Amino acid sequence: MQTRRFDGTLNPFNNQPYSKQYRGILRNRKELPIYAHMTANQIMIVVGETGSGKTTQIPQLVCHLDVPHSRGKIVACTQPRRIAAMSVAKRVADEMDLTLGKEVGYSVRFDDMTEPGTTFLKYMTDGMLLREAMSDPDLSRYSTVILDEAHERTLATDILMGLLKDVTKRRPDLRLIITSATLDTHKFQQYFGTDEHSLAPLFVIQGRTHPVEVIHAQEQEPDYITDAIRTVLRIHRMEGEGDILLFLTGQEEVDNACKGIMTGAQDLLKQNPSAVGPLVCIPLYASLDAEQQERVFDPPPPRRNPGGPAGRKVVVSTNIAETSTTVDGIVYVVDSGVSKQSVYNPRIRVESLSVSPISKASAKQRAGRAGRTKPGKCFRLYTEKEFKAFKDQDPPGILRGNLDSTVLALVKIGTRDLVQFDYIDSPAPETLPRALATLNYLGALDNEGDLTVLGITMAELPLDPQLAKALVVSPEFGCSVEILTIVSMLSVPNVWVRPTNQRLEADRARASLTIPDGDHLTLLNVYDKWVRNSRRSNWSWNNYVSQRSLLEAEQARCQLESLMIRFDIELVSAGKGPGLHKRVREALACGFFMQVAHKEGRAYVTVKDNQKVFIHPSCGLGDKPEWVLFNEFVLTSRPFIRTVTAIDPEWLLGEAASYYDIDNWKDGEAKRSLMRTRNQLPTQTSGHSSEG
Ligand code: CDP
Ligand code: MG
Repeated sequence: MQTRRFDGTLNPFNNQPYSKQYRGILRNRKELPIYAHMTANQIMIVVGETGSGKTTQIPQLVCHLDVPHSRGKIVACTQPRRIAAMSVAKRVADEMDLTLGKEVGYSVRFDDMTEPGTTFLKYMTDGMLLREAMSDPDLSRYSTVILDEAHERTLATDILMGLLKDVTKRRPDLRLIITSATLDTHKFQQYFGTDEHSLAPLFVIQGRTHPVEVIHAQEQEPDYITDAIRTVLRIHRMEGEGDILLFLTGQEEVDNACKGIMTGAQDLLKQNPSAVGPLVCIPLYASLDAEQQERVFDPPPPRRNPGGPAGRKVVVSTNIAETSTTVDGIVYVVDSGVSKQSVYNPRIRVESLSVSPISKASAKQRAGRAGRTKPGKCFRLYTEKEFKAFKDQDPPGILRGNLDSTVLALVKIGTRDLVQFDYIDSPAPETLPRALATLNYLGALDNEGDLTVLGITMAELPLDPQLAKALVVSPEFGCSVEILTIVSMLSVPNVWVRPTNQRLEADRARASLTIPDGDHLTLLNVYDKWVRNSRRSNWSWNNYVSQRSLLEAEQARCQLESLMIRFDIELVSAGKGPGLHKRVREALACGFFMQVAHKEGRAYVTVKDNQKVFIHPSCGLGDKPEWVLFNEFVLTSRPFIRTVTAIDPEWLLGEAASYYDIDNWKDGEAKRSLMRTRNQLPTQTSGHSSEG
């Protein structure tokens, strides 16, 4: 092993003298047990507790072994989460005394912080590496690929495992490291073994964990958020020094709980100023920017006076703190027992997020977060009986998600037989044909399953196939500038801000920006108004829209615009004319004709799947149009469709004739309505030219 490289006076990666900071970090780093385990196997599995240094340390060590910069190669480390890729790249650049965006970079969708020719260590989302495999199936730019957080079993990581297993056979010079935070690595070892009987080498990083006492709730509580706030405050009052980590499910919950905890802590202080120490509450969820996320690493607040009670940091997090972000100093964990999980409904072909009980494996991970620094306690807001009913493990992403994008990527990479692909876990039998059919209806694949010209372009765009299709065909409707904006707005976190105590004002502001023909047009309007108001944060603030989401949308728009230029998608604007809205809606229908609902009574029914749905209260549609397309399906108290736009039924018959082969449909209101539409058309509409 080339540890010598660590000890020179010059940084081997940029030939600059090391700074004092670097020396300090280096000393700590060399004490991490991981260094004892590295050898020169082509493929290896590394397992280690969360916080043992897999994400930050292994890639650095690999750089010292590979010296990628001296041979024009790159070390890649994939992350399931965008935010993790960004924040860890920053951290590691600091640790290596190098510059983020130069030698150490990151690449996530719509944000590329790398410098070609300079970056040799690249953190990236697994989705981005899968994209790169589309144009470079051998991943020839990389000397090592580290598939980090493989235990999360995201769809992209699973597919990358399959692809890379193959690439390592073609490229003996490529090193592959799979890391996992959970011990059930046997499956990975078997999968990467050279034959049926041999297992791929496993390296276990010995954790330095302390015992955690698990305390279950005595009885079932109906409202876990109130219960969580109460529990955090009780710990603050009754328990010794140490920070608290609370697991909830989503941004809104996290923000609300932070407010509740802060208010409660202030009340405690008023009641008895000498009994409790100062408390800070730090939210942690995926849509925070990297800088905000860094706050979780801040030390707890200092004592108010010497000898007074110690300060406490409370991190309120989604399941992102379960394995992907390690916060040191946590002694108490409060586990709500739920998380927001993506559920795919193959019947209506849409994914939705819903709050569901976690698995036993997750509960164990969450509890483990309390024992990083010293013995800790985990307060479970569910009874032992409830815990016993949790499933052992979450099913892998490939069994949960929509495979449309993945199948398009695999076809682009050149996978000839999708069924025979070496999946670590095969998708459910009906999902592959379904994805193929969807791509065929969209015109991306022909009837033989080969990519069409349209499909090749669609695959190049980092968008869901529906959005990609709408964008690629939009020049035919003379509105690609507008669709570009809409697609960008749909690719960023929710732009609407609705603070609990200002709902009325927020709703009023939203109403004044609303275009009654459809929420997609409203998004276009918001973006255009923002640009016309010089992108001022003041304007966003006054209109209750998120400046950060708009800035992100602008960044996405910029990147998509350059891709459009590269792939010859003409940039044309429908101008301000009266036809603008209609053309935009028609172009959208070309992508979203499979996400269409028909009004029946007071509700809507999705086309073909006949699922009863309701228009989400946040939607701004003026009156209830007979036909709508929708971007999202959300299941809360009722099944809702969200981001909804009115469409004309003749577009469906014209632009998606093969999907709307209504003669073969079962009788129903939608069919009858479409029949009437067809009979009223002057001549039989023929299929759109872009249909495969
Ligand atoms: O990937 P794994 O969970 O094994 O550990 P890691 O993310 O590499 O973290 C190793 C150590 O670095 C932990 O103690 C983290 O708390 C710390 N760390 C940090 O202080 N600041 C960061 N931005 C990232 C990690
Ligand atoms: Mg990690």
